[in-house]
Amino acid sequence: MPGSINAKELLQAIKPALSVSIMSADFLNLGKAIVSLEESGVKLLHIDVMDGNFCPSLTVGPSIIRQLKTNMLLDVHLMIQEPLNTLEQYVDAGADMITIQYESTIHSHRTLQTIKERNPNIIRGISLNPGTSYNVLEPLLEEVDMIVLLAVNPGWNGQKYIASTKNKQESIKKLIREKGKDIMTVIDGGVTLENIGQISALKADFVVSGSAVFKGGSIHQNVQIMMDAIRRN
Ligand code: DX5
Ligand code: ZN
Repeated sequence: MPGSINAKELLQAIKPALSVSIMSADFLNLGKAIVSLEESGVKLLHIDVMDGNFCPSLTVGPSIIRQLKTNMLLDVHLMIQEPLNTLEQYVDAGADMITIQYESTIHSHRTLQTIKERNPNIIRGISLNPGTSYNVLEPLLEEVDMIVLLAVNPGWNGQKYIASTKNKQESIKKLIREKGKDIMTVIDGGVTLENIGQISALKADFVVSGSAVFKGGSIHQNVQIMMDAIRRN
């Protein structure tokens, strides 16, 4: 049952690794896409939840997440306004990892604490929009297991990677080191077969990719290219 296994140990064992966003999958054949990812060795399934409010798009919610039958960890990325209002539903739906957007609430600290109260096994993440400075993170470092850098503005797959992500990643890794924290970093958005090498060199623990995995070539081939690049760094 997702949300109860020791996701933290599994993540430590598999990192650096790829998390694949299902937003770019063929939703009419989602089961098939999930099996292809599992057979390609993918361990994290990234679910981009958008509410049409925090960002213009509307994607999936708890009812779909609950139905996802997979041995991959459910890496739920909440791009929703006031996640505290519906948090319980994502915990109950079986999320292994829950990431909230820093900009989506004035109660980021309380929201992160609430995730832990509801299920201490869940990996807690905080994500920053490209326009948000990493300095806001310092008061939250006690309450997170991972920091997600959005390398695109939230709302769509297939966007162009924002190069300033590099500096922010370096600043965050420095902050984590200085504070002596065991916090993972993630780069999400705009990661392609062409730039995966350059992005892997930024030493994030996880890289999220969607459209580049599902378009052109085979899912298996695209995943291998990305995983090889990640492991090479
Ligand atoms: C963007 C999402 C990303 C996106 C990734 O708002 O958080 O996870 O779906 O898709 P690609 O890899 O196509 O940018
Ligand atoms: Zn995402």
